[in-house]
Amino acid sequence: MNLLVNLFRSSLGRKLVMGATGAGLFGFVVIHMIGNLQVFAGAEVLNQYAILLRTSEELLWGFRLALLAMVGLHLYCAITLTLDNRRARPAGYQDKRPLGATIASRTMMVSGVVVAAFIVFHILHFTTRDIFTDYKAWTIELHGREGHDVYRMVVHGFSIPWVSAAYIVGVGLLCAHLSHGVQSFFQSLGLVSTGYQPIIRAAGVAAALIIFLGMAAVPVSILLKWVS
Ligand code: HEM
Repeated sequence: MNLLVNLFRSSLGRKLVMGATGAGLFGFVVIHMIGNLQVFAGAEVLNQYAILLRTSEELLWGFRLALLAMVGLHLYCAITLTLDNRRARPAGYQDKRPLGATIASRTMMVSGVVVAAFIVFHILHFTTRDIFTDYKAWTIELHGREGHDVYRMVVHGFSIPWVSAAYIVGVGLLCAHLSHGVQSFFQSLGLVSTGYQPIIRAAGVAAALIIFLGMAAVPVSILLKWVS
């Protein structure tokens, strides 16, 4: 218990928690992207996958709570570390553009908040199905198991230009956030002073770009009617 209190009291401890939860959320995004790409294999494959993910209610809820806890801890540490930094430097820098800082690094709080809003919209869209309530009745039966017609929801959703645009912007900001997050993660491991910085920066940008292309491929292909 004492160890936990100390972990959250020290700024190094909170940086570690941010790194660990950020890495966990990054892993989720990669797996989710691979899952989404199954839309290119057709309705049966995607729906079968969606049904498989709902095999156990307990596992599903355990996973959802773990995700929520990671988001909560990540946000808590981000906010308290930012406030601590401001308190330590109340007058602020004269020149607000620190050397070597990228747009992604200077807008981590804003991109983080917009991404959080995008995730709420996304869950209302596909999980609770409250944006287009017709989805609630779109069920299917596959190999004797009932589930939601996820393929039909995805094709319907992304055929609407404003929905696709919202996803592309949301995913774009997420990737800007990730590109800097990957760099911060390695920085926290102390790899920056060892001359690895250009490699780490390139790795962060490359990872973010791959995720952006993988995620945006779904709305773009549906809008262009390559998938229908
Ligand atoms: C174009 C990009 C995306 C597509 C096509 C997509 C697709 C989907 C679909 C179809 C579902 C519902 C699955 C089901 O009901 O079985 C879902 C759920 C979800 N997605 Fe995404 N997603 C995208 C981006 C994202 C991003 C960027 C995040 C987070 C960073 C995210 C987080 C989630 C979460 C948390 C759920 C809820 C899982 C649950 O049921 O508990 N998604 N997504």
